[in-house]
Amino acid sequence: MFITFEGIEGSGKTTQARLLHEWLIDNGYEVILTREPGGTPAAEELRKFILSEREEKFPEIAELMLYMAARSFHVQNLIKPVLGSGAIVISDRFSDATLAYQGYGRGLSLKEIKYLNNLATEGVKPDITYLIDVPVEIGMSRIKGRYHDRIEKETLIFHEKVRKGYLKIASENPERIIVIDGTKETEEIFEEIKKTIERRLKNGI
Ligand code: TMP
Repeated sequence: MFITFEGIEGSGKTTQARLLHEWLIDNGYEVILTREPGGTPAAEELRKFILSEREEKFPEIAELMLYMAARSFHVQNLIKPVLGSGAIVISDRFSDATLAYQGYGRGLSLKEIKYLNNLATEGVKPDITYLIDVPVEIGMSRIKGRYHDRIEKETLIFHEKVRKGYLKIASENPERIIVIDGTKETEEIFEEIKKTIERRLKNGI
């Protein structure tokens, strides 16, 4: 089973991914928690490169390609082998993030991103995706005070486009993406997630 978490900055998706990881381990499942960009040594190096500030302009196309390159390392060297061994993979972000950030956020072609995603993922798709949705002001207020990477420093308008993009992607993939109200308490959100996962595990997917 391949589970992904998505959402804007400050949505609380990382906390929920961690809670689910712990809960599945406590229940005897073999499960790996990973993230994008990242998850393997090479992909983590690319993460540092992508998210750090640089003096020259960072072309949007270069950004897109680097996320895809990191995804390719991640899929080939971690996600595919782990899924092949029968374990569960939880990823904090995956291909929907590129559609939301580089597609809806930056305005790059959705069609081209879908094509590149297909190459980078080698067709690997999440079985279930949790989109933890929060209004941008709430997300931003939660990350206030900590270091902001290159993408987090983007304008509120950019993050608003990303949030709307995520909701659109969810509305187009209702069988896979579960939208969760991220303004609720952490425990309440996790209860919702647990219920849907228990049901899926009972049914075998
Ligand atoms: P994080 O906030 O989950 O650590 O993700 C790192 C940043 O990378 C975050 O600002 C979202 C951004 N991102 C993209 O813009 N496109 C992508 O494809 C991925 C995976 C992340």
